[in-house]
Amino acid sequence: MSHTDTSKSKFAVTTPLYYVNGLPHIGSAYTTIAADATARFERLRGKSVLLITGTDEHGQKIQRTAQSNGLQPQEHCDKVVAGFDTLWQKLDIQYDRFSRTTSSRHEAIVKEFFGRVWEQGDIYLGQQKGWYCVSCEEFKEERELLAEKCCPIHPNIKAEWRDEQNYFFRLSKYQNQLEELYQNKPDFIQPESRRNEVLSFVHQGLQDFSISRVNLDWGFPVPGDPKHTIYVWFDALLGYVTALLEQNSEPTLENALKQWWPINLHLIGKDILRFHAVYWPAMLMSAYLPIPDRVFGHGFLTKDGHKMGKSLGNTLDPIELVNRYGADAVRYYFLKEIEFGRDGDFNKTRFIDTVNADLAKSLGNLLNRTLGMTNKYCQAHVPDVDASNIPAEHPLKAISLELGERVARAYQSLAFSEACREILTLVRASNKFIDEQTPWSLYKEGKQQAVEEVLYSILESVRLAAYLLSSVIPNISTDIYHQLGFGIDFNNQTMVEVATYDTHSIWGILPPNQKLNKPKPVFVPLEQE
Ligand code: MSP
Repeated sequence: MSHTDTSKSKFAVTTPLYYVNGLPHIGSAYTTIAADATARFERLRGKSVLLITGTDEHGQKIQRTAQSNGLQPQEHCDKVVAGFDTLWQKLDIQYDRFSRTTSSRHEAIVKEFFGRVWEQGDIYLGQQKGWYCVSCEEFKEERELLAEKCCPIHPNIKAEWRDEQNYFFRLSKYQNQLEELYQNKPDFIQPESRRNEVLSFVHQGLQDFSISRVNLDWGFPVPGDPKHTIYVWFDALLGYVTALLEQNSEPTLENALKQWWPINLHLIGKDILRFHAVYWPAMLMSAYLPIPDRVFGHGFLTKDGHKMGKSLGNTLDPIELVNRYGADAVRYYFLKEIEFGRDGDFNKTRFIDTVNADLAKSLGNLLNRTLGMTNKYCQAHVPDVDASNIPAEHPLKAISLELGERVARAYQSLAFSEACREILTLVRASNKFIDEQTPWSLYKEGKQQAVEEVLYSILESVRLAAYLLSSVIPNISTDIYHQLGFGIDFNNQTMVEVATYDTHSIWGILPPNQKLNKPKPVFVPLEQE
């Protein structure tokens, strides 16, 4: 696999490690789709990539869920984990590591890390009093709570009063160091609005937080004091480190951090920003470890404008969506229709309209029509045109000249929607070009060379669009490449290594005289219900 090649620059990206209290919901699918698109894009760019996902299996929430299902916690976790894996396969998520916090290797990493922080003098015993939301696995300030002491994120769930002895992590000690981090690495927290939230939270003054629980078995015991269980978040964040271990290496921090640390990008939702942008870097500072490059907190999804939730009875099941509409349509909708970083909405009518308009009509039809004409007028071969002779002012060549660079900038800043829009501009211009140039009349007038030039420029534009969209819609892109006569499968990482960005993101590489394959719709329009 590509990530064993040490000569290349590296890119390690993570999704959150998902709670296994239930099957994956649309929120987990959303983060994972975005992470996969990023990972695929960095692979196209020639980087050696590690995409990490996994599950967060300890804590009270999971213990209670298992209990209510009449299962042992581990049994419960194993069952749910299988559901995550199934969904990731269906969505064409190419993860490299799946980190489970119940693995014994993880326990070794957590112990060692705890030991380091302990040696720093950053852990002490204290009394924890406060309101705890088991669904968030987090203490809440009294003023944050809604009526009846309900949690603002889980408005149907009451926070529980706790007054117990816990071990604390000396977060307050890292106040200045954290503020310096945010100053010196202004890109550490993105987007800007999230960065501001964190800055103002930290500016109010940091308080130490408790990192152990009593009366809870489901977790790792605190080294040297097994009455206490390590707090699920302290344990879970370290799952990112455990994920970096090679399969056969000893589970030590040194081994884990050797090749891929620091992580380049943590992709998360905005609700867990504080853990990743405040607690996590402070924990790493305490253990004298380098800080990840970037934490990006995306927005929340609603359905038909409403907050989603099991108790609200309006969840959106990602498994049902992908079974019904296929991976590419689902991936495309969430990445193209919602600006990454902002809240967004899922609405079925809009979903069907979007994928039909962009994938079936603009992109699919364009390829289909053009291949049809190429069959008729050019014997099903790429027209014999030297793209370098096409002037730079040619409308499609002009758009394409710096398209690869613009799209790369968009993907790198996780502006997936902008990347798609840029690419769609070329597709729309190609549709317009065909209608204006009317190759069928040129053919009738006997202007064979003009026909060939028009068809070549359109086929090449479709190719370029398919290439640049392949991180979002790998299956459709593969079909387009196939119909254009290439043997490249965008789900095959070895092939992707050959189709490098510096060659394929340039307009004018479609080989003249290449044999084309039979046209077949790449996306069948969905019916509005
Ligand atoms: N277990 C923790 C993460 C530990 S990481 C070391 C956790 N898990 S989670 O399963 O509850 O959340 C997973 C992700 O789903 C979070 O990034 C969260 O933001 C995201 N979403 C949950 N509901 C969501 C929406 N309605 N919309 C978009 N994403 C949302 O938190």
